[in-house]
Amino acid sequence: MQFDEFAAFEKDGWEHVVQPYDDYFGRLTIQSHPALLDALGVGPGTRMLDVAAGPGYLAAAAIERGATATAIDFSATMIAHARQLHPDVEFQFAAAEHLPFDAQSFDAVGISFGLLHFPEPERALVEAARVLRQGGRIAFTAWAPPERAVGFGMVLDAVQLHGKLDVGLPPSPPFFRFSDPDECVRVLTEAGFADARAAEVEQTWHLVLPETPFDGLMHGGVRMAALLRAQSKSALAAIEQEVKSRAMAYSQRGTQHGAQHGELLVPMPCVLASAVRP
Ligand SMILES: C[S@@+](CC[C@H](N)C(=O)[O-])C[C@H]1O[C@@H](n2cnc3c(N)ncnc32)[C@H](O)[C@@H]1O
Repeated sequence: MQFDEFAAFEKDGWEHVVQPYDDYFGRLTIQSHPALLDALGVGPGTRMLDVAAGPGYLAAAAIERGATATAIDFSATMIAHARQLHPDVEFQFAAAEHLPFDAQSFDAVGISFGLLHFPEPERALVEAARVLRQGGRIAFTAWAPPERAVGFGMVLDAVQLHGKLDVGLPPSPPFFRFSDPDECVRVLTEAGFADARAAEVEQTWHLVLPETPFDGLMHGGVRMAALLRAQSKSALAAIEQEVKSRAMAYSQRGTQHGAQHGELLVPMPCVLASAVRP
């Protein structure tokens, strides 16, 4: 496989970042779940599969709509965390590229912010098509480009200004490949799906100062965290400071328990793509 080393790096990373991922991204990525479930047509009785479920919020939201939900993830610690949060969801330890289910077992397959992490996204889509019944629906989300998902944009700009982008991480598929709606439609169509479509959905990252997107990406993810950790100490300090000053453009002042605090509301839209299994 072209990205073997990357696959091992991601798997190890997701085993070690469970609680910080949930803390920084759990309340962000759920913002697109209603639109994702609508695109999947999830309602009472739908058999939904949540692929790369992480903390499992998409599957839990499907159950709230009266669906039955199964969820898979290849991180054992993520699954243990998700099982505690959502006892109603059936979690299984599996890779997106090798789903342990019979053909045509599901009416809907949702992949919330998973596809951009897969070493073989095309293979994962073909697997999704295999486990979907005819007429079943697939939908996935991925971050919008960094010019609009500005939490990523300000950190990447700061790295470019004060540090290095090439730090010897394993070769990886492009992080923003599925930020392009046309690419989403193309990859779904090539995987055999019909009626593919993609559009952006708004999301806002709520952070409380002194935390900024620097902290979220440094502690709550895998690939961006590795990029930041690989910088020199002085470069990292300059990157953190640069992000802090750029983030102030998104601050709102407020009070909490009588104390003044600054809240950041950072635009983090995503692309939502969906299609039908013919
Ligand atoms: C960015 S998190 C997304 C979690 C959740 N779906 C959400 O929307 O917040 C990516 C998740 O995908 C899982 N993952 C990454 N690559 C995977 C693969 N090839 N097969 C299964 N799970 C994978 C990770 O363990 C992690 O839990």
